[in-house]
Amino acid sequence: MTIEIRPATAADSAAIADLHQRSWRSAYRGLLPDGYLDGPAAGELAARWGRTFSKDEPRRVILVAMAPDGIVGFVAAWPNTARMALIDNLHVAPGQRGGGIGRRLMGRAAAELRRLGFEAVFLEVIEGNHDARGFYRRLGGIEGELFFEPIGGHPTPVFPVTWDDLAALEAAGGP
Ligand SMILES: CC(C)(COP(=O)(O)OP(=O)(O)OC[C@H]1O[C@@H](n2cnc3c(N)ncnc32)[C@H](O)[C@@H]1OP(=O)(O)O)[C@@H](O)C(=O)NCCC(=O)NCCS
Repeated sequence: MTIEIRPATAADSAAIADLHQRSWRSAYRGLLPDGYLDGPAAGELAARWGRTFSKDEPRRVILVAMAPDGIVGFVAAWPNTARMALIDNLHVAPGQRGGGIGRRLMGRAAAELRRLGFEAVFLEVIEGNHDARGFYRRLGGIEGELFFEPIGGHPTPVFPVTWDDLAALEAAGGP
């Protein structure tokens, strides 16, 4: 299957929110409370993506991975400081994981962030999300010290993961 990676537009908002919610329900089951995942999370994510696309942020990067029948992955990154970006979200559709889409999204995001003048990027990963932690290690991310972050109002143990070399991350994303 051919997968094209392209910048997201406001027209993608609902499809991204839907994939985000499905991905949370599959990947975060047992890591966030069921009552939150099956309750308010969907509405919060839809509202969050609506707000995101209504704001103008010239140094943000939002990319979608497009299969012939729709969006199968996305990555979003914003400025944290002038030189450091934050990857706020990276999700691949539950049925499409393990096929290299996440790697390509990370590589393209690194390329776009470099073009925008960033030198480094970090993200936060939930302690119990061992698959994503393994994936980030494979791409050269360095884990920092565990801390607690409120996710949907729930204190959740997370690790920061940093890449200080965006060119290396771009290369790790493949051609
Ligand atoms: C994490 C995620 C984005 C990775 O995307 P993906 O498309 O499944 O991963 P890829 O197929 O691109 O994997 C890239 C490389 O990472 C490796 N990798 C993937 N999962 C791994 C794991 N659990 N442990 C070690 N390596 C792993 C792959 O083997 C591959 O390396 P290779 O090409 O040398 O074999 C995806 O699985 C996902 O959406 N998970 C659920 C949501 C989530 O947790 N998002 C992150 C939130 S912080």
